[in-house]
Amino acid sequence: MNVIVAGAGIIGCAVAYELASRGARVRVIDPRGPGQGATRASAGVLAPYIEGHSDALLKLGACSLGYYDSFVARVAADAGRPVEYRRAGTLEVACSDAEASELARAAERLSRAGVAHSLLDGDAARRLEPALSRAVSAGLLVPQHGYVAATAFTSALVAAAERRGVVFAADSLARVAQSADPVVIAAGSWSSRIAPSPAPVRPIRGQLLHLVFDHPPLTRVVWGSRAYLVPWEDGSVLVGATSEDVGFDERATEEGVTDLLARATAVAPAVAGAPLREVRVGLRPATSDELPIIGASSTMRGVYYATGHYRNGVLLAPLTALMVADLVLDGRERAELALARPDRFGL
Ligand code: GLY
Repeated sequence: MNVIVAGAGIIGCAVAYELASRGARVRVIDPRGPGQGATRASAGVLAPYIEGHSDALLKLGACSLGYYDSFVARVAADAGRPVEYRRAGTLEVACSDAEASELARAAERLSRAGVAHSLLDGDAARRLEPALSRAVSAGLLVPQHGYVAATAFTSALVAAAERRGVVFAADSLARVAQSADPVVIAAGSWSSRIAPSPAPVRPIRGQLLHLVFDHPPLTRVVWGSRAYLVPWEDGSVLVGATSEDVGFDERATEEGVTDLLARATAVAPAVAGAPLREVRVGLRPATSDELPIIGASSTMRGVYYATGHYRNGVLLAPLTALMVADLVLDGRERAELALARPDRFGL
């Protein structure tokens, strides 16, 4: 079967790779090339028990996290290169009494759900991560969480997909939905510009800082209410992220950088003196219910959606790829698809 994938972010690349792994002939179209939209500003945090803000999102995220080990291993093997991917946990931190109470409530929810975790006081959190500020009064450790280096993972997906025959073309997205072959619309915020049935996603800008350290100041992802920090193996740290409703404006701003540095310094003071390697900017594709749009169009035969992943595109990439490949190639609907149906938006 021939399939066209519109969009070469992490979702489009993962979908294309999975389709091609199962024998489809896939062409990926993106005028800007792979990983140039929301993906380039992702810190790659894999944390459904922090970012799963609704039952449905939590279910999708936890399910996708369960596929991560095997999906990354397959992609790395097919690409012939390792992917930076660590499941060293997240430490969510509180810097006020209200935040500490919220962490205690989150710990109760995890206990009820049978999810491994530890609720720590400030000193115990600092024993785990000595770079944390004295203002940290509590921490919640979730060992199964982690991160993947999103840009490197996307490059590996492209290499793995190309080895399986996928062709990447820098063509316009404008009319792909009128193709005679099945089309998967996976263009993130730009899915709202694909006729004749644009997806109702709007761009929410995220700015992310890449800071350089000689030695890694942290050993795991640290998540505060106003900033998160992701330590990479090379010692650098990603600090995220702003959340700005400014349309299709992908520029970095001085205000965004200053604000992020202040927020991150409150959690880990060493951030203040670190050299800034770059500012990454991307547009998260948000839907009104903050859930992705995944599945077959109810109005156009041969059109499928895999878009609107908002803050969780990297986390949801493996599950999205598996669900879309099942659907497009075998007409099989996984149960999780019911949580993301396009027809809830009349698509
Ligand atoms: N998932 C983190 C963010 O969107 O900033």
